[in-house]
Amino acid sequence: MAEAFTIKMPKLSDTMTEGTLVTWEKQVGEQIARGTVVATVETDKAIMDVEIFREGYLSGPLAPVGAVVPVGGAIAYLVADVKEVKGGEAAAAPAERRKSERVSESEPHKFEPYGTPKAKTHIPAMPHGATPAPRPRTGYASPYARQLAGAHGIDINSVKGSGPGGMILAADVTVPQAPPGMAKRIYQVPGIGRPMDAMEKAVAHNMEYSLSMPLFRATVSVSPERLAAASKKEGYSLTVALAKAAGFAIQKFPRVNAVYQHEDRIVERTQIDVGLAVETEGMGLVVPVLRDVMSKGLKQLNDEWKDLVARARIKRLKPQEYSNPTFTISNMGMLGVTNFDAIPSPGTSAIFAISTAGPQGMPVTITADHRIVNGADAAKFLNTFKQLVEQPESWIGGGVPAIVAVAAGAGASAIVAGKWDYDVVIIGGGPGGEDCARDLADHGKKVLMVNDAPFPGGECLWRGCIPSKAWRAGADRVRDRAHDAHLGVLNTNKPKLDWKLLEKTRRYVLETRGELALKTDKGVKIEVKQGFAYFDSANSVVIDTSGNKNDPHARPARGKGGKTERFTFGACVIAAGAPPWVPPIPGADSKGVLTSDTVWNLKASPKKLGIIGAGAIGLEMAQIFADFGAQVLVLEAKDRPLAEVEPEIAKNLSELLDKKQKNLKLVISAKIEKISGKPGTMTLAYSDAAGKKATFKCDYVLVATGKRPVLEPLALDKAGVRTDKGVVTVDRQCRTNVGHIFAVGDVNGGYMLAHTAGHQGRVAAATILGEKAEYNQDKDCGVIFTRPQAAFVGLSAEQAKAKGIDAVEVKMPMNIDAKAMITDETDGLIKLVADKATRRIVGVHFLADHADTLIGEAVMMVSGDMTLDQVAHAIHPHPTQTEMFGEMARRLLSRLRRTAKVAK
Ligand code: NAI
Repeated sequence: MAEAFTIKMPKLSDTMTEGTLVTWEKQVGEQIARGTVVATVETDKAIMDVEIFREGYLSGPLAPVGAVVPVGGAIAYLVADVKEVKGGEAAAAPAERRKSERVSESEPHKFEPYGTPKAKTHIPAMPHGATPAPRPRTGYASPYARQLAGAHGIDINSVKGSGPGGMILAADVTVPQAPPGMAKRIYQVPGIGRPMDAMEKAVAHNMEYSLSMPLFRATVSVSPERLAAASKKEGYSLTVALAKAAGFAIQKFPRVNAVYQHEDRIVERTQIDVGLAVETEGMGLVVPVLRDVMSKGLKQLNDEWKDLVARARIKRLKPQEYSNPTFTISNMGMLGVTNFDAIPSPGTSAIFAISTAGPQGMPVTITADHRIVNGADAAKFLNTFKQLVEQPESWIGGGVPAIVAVAAGAGASAIVAGKWDYDVVIIGGGPGGEDCARDLADHGKKVLMVNDAPFPGGECLWRGCIPSKAWRAGADRVRDRAHDAHLGVLNTNKPKLDWKLLEKTRRYVLETRGELALKTDKGVKIEVKQGFAYFDSANSVVIDTSGNKNDPHARPARGKGGKTERFTFGACVIAAGAPPWVPPIPGADSKGVLTSDTVWNLKASPKKLGIIGAGAIGLEMAQIFADFGAQVLVLEAKDRPLAEVEPEIAKNLSELLDKKQKNLKLVISAKIEKISGKPGTMTLAYSDAAGKKATFKCDYVLVATGKRPVLEPLALDKAGVRTDKGVVTVDRQCRTNVGHIFAVGDVNGGYMLAHTAGHQGRVAAATILGEKAEYNQDKDCGVIFTRPQAAFVGLSAEQAKAKGIDAVEVKMPMNIDAKAMITDETDGLIKLVADKATRRIVGVHFLADHADTLIGEAVMMVSGDMTLDQVAHAIHPHPTQTEMFGEMARRLLSRLRRTAKVAK
């Protein structure tokens, strides 16, 4: 007769030592196919199926329903021939393990009250990343015992073996060892007592393991309202959202996800599995585990959670669904608990205890294993969690919060992992967007650049730097003729401007550059789409293609709710620019009021022009039209022009314009009362610093009072992108509060300069690619194309001192330079600012003709952290104005040397 195969009580979790037979699903004598469920058993946490993976006929004696069978004990038999089937029930086995039984290393869980099985028992899956404990210092331990000891951080040397020759078996490890001195001490209390059920025992044993952990606690109060509202809006359970927030915080502080093992080992785990304690009726607390929370979206996690909870309530969880979390959250908020702490279970290092929100917020207490989590890290981890819960907009829609993305640092791509239409979507095709797109495409990224105009180039090409420089070039010709006689060239001082020809050149340059740029963009494989993009979520944009299709010179039309397309992305760069801002001056909406958007529509150079604002646009335009022959009045609200420019440079320019510039008057500290009239007959009413009222009659009024981003149509709230005072807030990597969304150029409210935008676009691209890059405004520069030009790179002495730098400066007037004398361009000065301690050059400032080319060397000095000594020793070519840099550096060095001697 063939030997019967024993069906044993399976060990279905690492804490399970016995099971209760709940049902027999098959009858004695029934034929059993592979994979048949023959019975259900109640383990310490759930009712589970007993599946058989061989064929045969079910045979007795069966363990009776309700019997408590130790793991490994026989519950039934399987025979090959139906004739061999036996009936009957076995006698119930003792729940206590029989210590006297000898077991071999290969059969660690062999308890055989019903027979003598040959097959090996099932070994459950081990916790993620658990490594076996080292071999004991004396004696032997079975491999499985070492695995379990490793997973639970149990010192195997402290475990007493019950195997042959004192070998430590898995069963010895899973049964809690009483601390020395406490062994078997039972405190007598009145009453008879009852045996614990499986669940109660598992919890008690787990908690006893935890006694070996040196625990500490820290608490913060968190305001959960925004997360509660955001998760409700998206239809996610708050519990799941809290688990995700904890996951993000763990990504920043991975130590919390690691586990300490004896013999001084740390098991680090990359996967974050969050156990969430759930109260179940009749079964107490169960901790289903949301697996791998960081590689799944909130929707998937929410679906999985719903299923887990539903099955937990009817005791239908599989062991792998409630075992081995890497972090746990116990939320008693709904139970009205004002404060509590929890105990981390074996195999974890920390647990969150979340109490009911009160007037101070919702207390969140971390209890952590001090062997690997230190107090400061726990505090930072808690605060990160708090920040994530209080600012959920950056991640609830699928984004990566900046605090986590930044922690990933250089080397980590900012592109969220996933299947997207594009790696990166760029909103805006100006210098910021275009430079960013090109760098990303160059690195093989799939890039979509959305631009709400037919050609790229943005404000700079179509309404800013380039067209104004075309007009400036015409005005330069007119202006320079006046100096020809100085060099003996006569009869050139009565030039005549042909507006149409100048305009033809200007338009030709713009259109040619625009077409070239588009060709290049497409050539480098950037996908360019015309339309207005706005956010749909933190990972998608909608593009409205109903805007302006044809006129490249017109300000792009914002989307008007026409035809739309939707695209998903792994990262996004907002480079949407900023249009001119017109203050609420009475009459500012009249037809005769121009801005830097509409001034390009002039059909002729105006004869009289009123300008509001003495910033870069106001002064450049004022001088251009004054050089063309118009009478120009500039009214400035502040007591100085050009707020961004070094004070002495701005003051000198102001005086020069006042004294030397023909046809131009600058009134500072002016107050505009009213604008009235129509094109050709406008009146500008204002009062000066003394309050004296005046009017200026002119053809047009140009309002040049700054630019401001228009954010509302971008629907930034859909992506959770934060703004402050009307601009998108970013860090030095141009990253918004949403880790995979960046904002470059005018839209982030820094210097509204084309090269700043371009540089920031490259910084964003590098950061997205995982490289190290940052924008440092202290090294940025600018040129205002007045005559002479005002220009700067780096810090003024005033700015440097404010940053704690002991700044010294040296300056040279242009009127001592031979070349300036020859060309009669002697107005202005150059000054160099250095750090006295290190002799590093921190700023260079110009009021000089040709500053736009001279500044190149100054840019290298400041961006390269060059010292006075290096510039002093550089060989500058003669005769050029660059010699002034060497001269100034030597002079300042000499002064520092002499003053240092005096000080001694
Ligand atoms: P801006 O901010 O440079 O200057 C605006 C000026 O208008 C300020 O001086 C301000 O005090 C004044 N202002 C504001 N409200 C006023 C009021 N109600 N009455 C009188 N004055 C008032 O802005 P701007 O010139 O419009 O230029 C916009 C942006 O474009 C700036 O960031 C500028 O730097 C940039 N830009 C740069 C150029 C360059 O670097 N070459 C050329 C043109 C523009």
